Amino acid sequence: MEKTYDYLYALVKSKPIPVHVAIIMDGNGRWAKKHKLPRIAGHRRGVEALRDIISTSSELGIKYLTLYAFSTENWKRPKDEVNALMSLLVEFLRKEVAELHRNSVKIYVLGDIGRLPEAARTEVQHAMDLTRANSGLQVNIALNYGSRAEILKAIKSIVQDVTSKRLAFDDITEQTISQYLDTGGIPDPDMLIRTSGEYRISNFLLYQIAYTELVFTDKNVFWPDFTREKYLEAIIEYQGRVRRYGGLDTGEDD
Ligand code: FPP
Repeated sequence: MEKTYDYLYALVKSKPIPVHVAIIMDGNGRWAKKHKLPRIAGHRRGVEALRDIISTSSELGIKYLTLYAFSTENWKRPKDEVNALMSLLVEFLRKEVAELHRNSVKIYVLGDIGRLPEAARTEVQHAMDLTRANSGLQVNIALNYGSRAEILKAIKSIVQDVTSKRLAFDDITEQTISQYLDTGGIPDPDMLIRTSGEYRISNFLLYQIAYTELVFTDKNVFWPDFTREKYLEAIIEYQGRVRRYGGLDTGEDD
């Protein structure tokens, strides 16, 4: 029997909900190819899938949703595709931000947005400013983001602050590094989902996912196929894992 949304939702709600979910939204291009459509049609469908995942996250009471929307490596794609992705981002924010704001969603950005086209920068800034004080779901959009670049930037800031005596060398801890990353102040992800059956991390949140549970979908589930039901199933898989953080199983999670 195909499990219904309500059934899966109730199951998810019966166990602890992850606080922070990170997602690598992979497979838009392959989805488009499979349906004999241009790649951009896949990205467009990807935005539709994203809308459902955001609203489900909000309903479930997830606190942080971190999305890999555009990596530092994605600039290598054909100019048309890069422009189309930026336009989709602008369109998404223009269309959705008011509704997201009504639902108390907070939009936040990871990565260096300085290199984005001006229209994208403006919309992103507007969305962040408008939703800054919201206390509901925080959606972190990784844009022109690469984890190694983020770590490098953090190291440089730490060195600068030590040099200028704002930070003492002996006070540098693992926590300090976390604080200097773009995700400073945000707890590490509890789970990371990657769609389309690729088993890679692709320079995403390398420092933050030390103890994150990784969930990979089947290779026939491209990002546009990632329905709310598939999302709930992924969370159920996470909820079935026993997190030991390097210690022994205490049985508390069973
Ligand atoms: C991966 O598919 C997806 C991306 C590189 C971009 C993800 C972007 C969106 C879902 C839409 C834009 C974002 C927002 C926040 C509105 P792929 O192109 O790598 O697929 P492939 O591996 O099958 O080629």
